[in-house]
Amino acid sequence: MDMMEAIRVRRSVRSFDGRPLTPEDRAALLALAETTRNPYGLPVRFALLDGAENGLSSPVIVGASHWLAGKLPRTPHAEEAFGFAFETLLLRAVALGLGTVWLAGTLSRGAFEAAMALEAGEVLPCVSPVGYPAKKMSLREQLMRKGTGAETRLPFETLFFDGSFDQPLSPAAAGELAPLLEAVRRGPSAVNRQPWRVVRDGDWLHFFEKSSRGYADKSGWDLQKVDLGIALCHFALAAEALGRRVSFSLEAPALPLPNGIRYIASYLLS
Ligand SMILES: Cc1cc2nc3c(=O)[nH]c(=O)nc-3n(C[C@H](O)[C@H](O)[C@H](O)COP(=O)(O)O)c2cc1C
Repeated sequence: MDMMEAIRVRRSVRSFDGRPLTPEDRAALLALAETTRNPYGLPVRFALLDGAENGLSSPVIVGASHWLAGKLPRTPHAEEAFGFAFETLLLRAVALGLGTVWLAGTLSRGAFEAAMALEAGEVLPCVSPVGYPAKKMSLREQLMRKGTGAETRLPFETLFFDGSFDQPLSPAAAGELAPLLEAVRRGPSAVNRQPWRVVRDGDWLHFFEKSSRGYADKSGWDLQKVDLGIALCHFALAAEALGRRVSFSLEAPALPLPNGIRYIASYLLS
């Protein structure tokens, strides 16, 4: 399964069948965790944790034996870098036939931080169970998917723009860019808020955050920037899968921005 296919079939999996990971899948995940990068060059450390050994749990997860977690220094761009790196790892897990789901809130956080030996100045943004999806979703999972509208996404024209924020971009006008933006659109986000907005400007794609209230804490940590890291990841992996090259930049374009819109990063497509 290539990354385009992994992006297409990925969904949050919260019900697992209880089987422990096979030694082959464990080894494959460990190898992938070692080679996962992010365009910010920040050092993200991942671990594959045994749930029972470390007392790990989440009220929304059933039947998971193993968990993926990551930590990194709490520096500028830590959110986007983590979002990019962890989503890369989770999509590679999906390509192995495994189920995953991003968890930022519903987890036994203290137990995860202890298992990861979190130190002062480090942050453990999110974790994911990893295992074999159950044949049937738990009732709670079904209700959660309804509650967040997990099957749906905002319209293409609400998320993507042509040259400026007052010019929506349609899939037809996006042309060969459309599958790459569709890969961004399908991404997971906290409470399915989809805060990513993208402006096409020639061969440049500028990524912005449209923030909703309640996702940034007093320390300045902004969970929706993790979503933006996921959007950048989907774009870059889809481009690579389709044989395109991308270069990353943090140089903000001189565009008039609507209220509540913040610049995140850009890709040059070639
Ligand atoms: C950064 C982030 C944090 C999330 N935190 C949680 C969480 O704490 N609990 C949970 O059940 N789902 C969580 N999710 C999963 C989202 O609810 C889910 O991705 C979204 O509803 C879309 O559904 P889908 O992943 O099946 O496409 C999180 C997703 C992201 C990207």
